[in-house]
Amino acid sequence: MKLTKLIIPSALIVAASFVFAAEENPIKKAMQIAHKAPQGEKKLCEKIAGGTASEAEVKTTLDAYKAIGDTKPPRGDEAAFKQKVAKLIGATEDVLAKKEGAAAGYKTAVDCKACHSEHKPESNKK
Ligand code: HEC
Repeated sequence: MKLTKLIIPSALIVAASFVFAAEENPIKKAMQIAHKAPQGEKKLCEKIAGGTASEAEVKTTLDAYKAIGDTKPPRGDEAAFKQKVAKLIGATEDVLAKKEGAAAGYKTAVDCKACHSEHKPESNKK
């Protein structure tokens, strides 16, 4: 007797574990893209504040900020955080639109300490 049973173990196809979960935090991602740079290189935020960022660099930064969207800050008041991010997005858009005094406005909006002291977890305070 021939046994020609074909078993399709579809039930065994399990989704892989999400190893990149930590990298999926849009706040951290934005920080790494715009506010961090390898040693010896200028951060994008420094270039923007100094008026030397290319249009593509400003756009990259803007996209990173926008990606934060409704992400909850790890600490502090959510509405206050959203307001800060909105201000940052507005200031970056002004830079992209080459508005007068936009670089200075961005410099004010990208206040690391003001935001970190309220919204960054105590454990890795800067
Ligand atoms: C609008 C608020 C805001 C501003 C402005 C801001 N940060 Fe942050 N930053 C955060 C928050 C919130 C975290 C914590 C994210 C977390 O741990 O989930 C953070 C985390 C970081 C981290 C750690 C990222 C990681 O991978 O854990 C770095 C580096 C950083 N910020 C740099 C800066 C620098 C430099 C500036 C100023 C040029 C700045 N940030 C401005 C909100 C802000």
